[in-house]
Amino acid sequence: MSKCPADFNFFDESVLNCPYEFYRTLQEQAPVYQLPGTDIFMVTRHADVKKLLKDTATFSNNFTHLLKGPEPAPEVTAIYARAWQPVDTMITADPPRHKTYRTLVNKVFSASRVNAMEDYMKAIVHELIDSFIDRGECDFIREFTTPLPVYVIADQLGVPRRDLAEFKRWSDSFARRLSQMATPEEQVEDAKNIVAFQFYFAEMIEERRSHPRDDIISDLVVTQIEDPDSGAVRPLDMEELQSILQQLMVAGNETTTSAITGGMLSLAQNPQQMKALQDDSGKIGNAVEEILRMESPSAGMWRVVKKDTEFNGVKIPRNALLMLRYHAANRDQQLFDQPNAICVDRENADDHIAFGQGIHFCPGAMLARKEMNVAFTALLSRLDNIQLVQEKCDLTYWPNIVLRGLKELHIRFDRRAV
Ligand code: HEM
Repeated sequence: MSKCPADFNFFDESVLNCPYEFYRTLQEQAPVYQLPGTDIFMVTRHADVKKLLKDTATFSNNFTHLLKGPEPAPEVTAIYARAWQPVDTMITADPPRHKTYRTLVNKVFSASRVNAMEDYMKAIVHELIDSFIDRGECDFIREFTTPLPVYVIADQLGVPRRDLAEFKRWSDSFARRLSQMATPEEQVEDAKNIVAFQFYFAEMIEERRSHPRDDIISDLVVTQIEDPDSGAVRPLDMEELQSILQQLMVAGNETTTSAITGGMLSLAQNPQQMKALQDDSGKIGNAVEEILRMESPSAGMWRVVKKDTEFNGVKIPRNALLMLRYHAANRDQQLFDQPNAICVDRENADDHIAFGQGIHFCPGAMLARKEMNVAFTALLSRLDNIQLVQEKCDLTYWPNIVLRGLKELHIRFDRRAV
């Protein structure tokens, strides 16, 4: 007998690890589904998610209260009080406020800047591969997919290479704070790191005000915005700059790491697909879209319901939460044939919505795609017979509702003859 939605507990680690049967059940039986005992309505069909993303008047991104998590200990609050307080700039801002900041970020994250990064990305990718290729084995997440996006975004922002280790530590603290899985001791450590990040960047910001260079921070400090409340033209203030920098740093690291890691896992499990890419590197662009579709590292996003509404016959009350499930939408069989199989030649792979859609569409999409492309091109041209080190990979994912990422991936390989 086929299952029904109530047979699954979405918060159960086994469901989070392998949610595909749950997604399929919802898509067929309850495409807008209230998770039992919560005010969360999960939306799983591709067409529905796309439709809801357009209605920013009813479904708000102002979910700051969810990011804060449970009340922190007084010691943690006291540490955060020493630095700049959060303001809503992009991911948690709604129109018209959102546009002020987003226009600016689109400008500084220009195609020409991203394209100019390609040589630097290639150099980093080859350096990382050089560091493990002689061993014939590597801890792929720690040695490749974690450092890569951190080095790339740090360089875009203008962080000197000598500070990369610290930058990585701060970035990890932001990610752990978001996951809300830190122990009380880790919360104190994260607060200290996050405040240290803010002071470090405050210094850089002041320095760039007087000596602008060709980097994102310089562009941000010299640009003027129209104040979202008063309309006065002015530069960004320190709270706004900190908020934008934090998002650029945090939003891109975990996601890109998970996309490349998950892609490598799928290819290692499907050697004929890997071979197709090694035989014809021209397929890598489409394979990147297919990997983004399958992995959807930004697995789900919140929206806060601003007024009583109804969607597909389901009543959704004001203040309820929508969980727009990008990961499920990208495996909707209404759109994707055999959605759980990787197919590097899939014709409509780029119909995925792994970067969202509408006004919050990921501003880092071009950067992430390029990083993935450069990474897979180099890995597949230098490594052969890539296989999982089974005894070191239990293939489980971090128990996180919003971000999806593998915990461990160890691979072994031969050096590819050139
Ligand atoms: C594979 C990698 C990535 C994935 C899957 C991804 C996914 C997403 C998604 C789904 C959204 C929309 C959120 C929503 O619907 O509310 C988003 C927004 C965002 N992403 Fe990415 N992202 C990736 C890489 C990056 C990178 C590299 C950066 C920056 C360097 C970045 C910065 C942002 C920012 C700032 C937003 C908020 C935009 C806004 O609210 O207007 N992301 N991303």
